[in-house]
Amino acid sequence: MAGKAMPQQMGNHEMIAVFKIQRFDPEKDKEPYFQTFELEAEPEMRILDCLNQIKWTRDGTLAYRWSCGHGVCGSDAVRINGRCALACKRLLKHYDTNEFVIEPLPNFPVQKDLLVDLSKFYEVYHSMRPYLIAGAPPEKERVQNPEDRKMLDEVIRCILCACCTAACPVTGENPDFVGPAAIVRAFRYIFDARDEDRPARLKALDRPNGVWACVNHFECTRVCPKDIRVTWSINRIKRELGNHK
Ligand code: SF4
Ligand code: SF4
Ligand code: FES
Repeated sequence: MAGKAMPQQMGNHEMIAVFKIQRFDPEKDKEPYFQTFELEAEPEMRILDCLNQIKWTRDGTLAYRWSCGHGVCGSDAVRINGRCALACKRLLKHYDTNEFVIEPLPNFPVQKDLLVDLSKFYEVYHSMRPYLIAGAPPEKERVQNPEDRKMLDEVIRCILCACCTAACPVTGENPDFVGPAAIVRAFRYIFDARDEDRPARLKALDRPNGVWACVNHFECTRVCPKDIRVTWSINRIKRELGNHK
């Protein structure tokens, strides 16, 4: 975690931002290491702007993902000063320091620098069958009443950034834990009144590595960039399972 040095202001509201970025090139490095870059920056700049500036003007080999730049695609999640977050949603002024330690998301294998392999994350996500399972379509639309729809308002904001799963201490210790992001996606269908496979969806999570592995650390909820009450959603499914015993 970086120290608490206050942002070093320069004329024109600029500051010197010190970026310590974890580097790792599997073709030549045995171990990851940190490389430091100093930038003249504005407090309103996003962490993503700084990474881009470093890549475009200092070291074109720096590897990280991003796409939309506006908190929609979920691709630029990294660990910033010890907390998983989207680089495009965090501004320098959100931190009371001018030092930024940037690491890849924990709990996933590192491919290069800040790029992690999310294959397993998506494998587990797909195992939740993230689509509506319902019989033949009715003549008109499938009806969903506003109350039922309300139940899904929060979880449908999930952009699969993987911050929650990366931050979860249980995922770190138990790679077989299904993880919070997959559970949030399962919630989206379990509580969709139009879905006809609810019993099987609940059963799939009713196991030691399903919802019961969650021990309420709340880290997932703390880091979610979409303010989804991830732990609440997991506990809601636990409650639903209890009701079905
Ligand atoms: S609440 Fe559960 S899923 Fe979220 S971080 Fe804690 S243990 Fe992990
Ligand atoms: S629940 Fe939040 S933190 Fe987890 S994947 Fe979805 S958006 Fe990201
Ligand atoms: S770049 Fe798409 S969410 Fe940040």
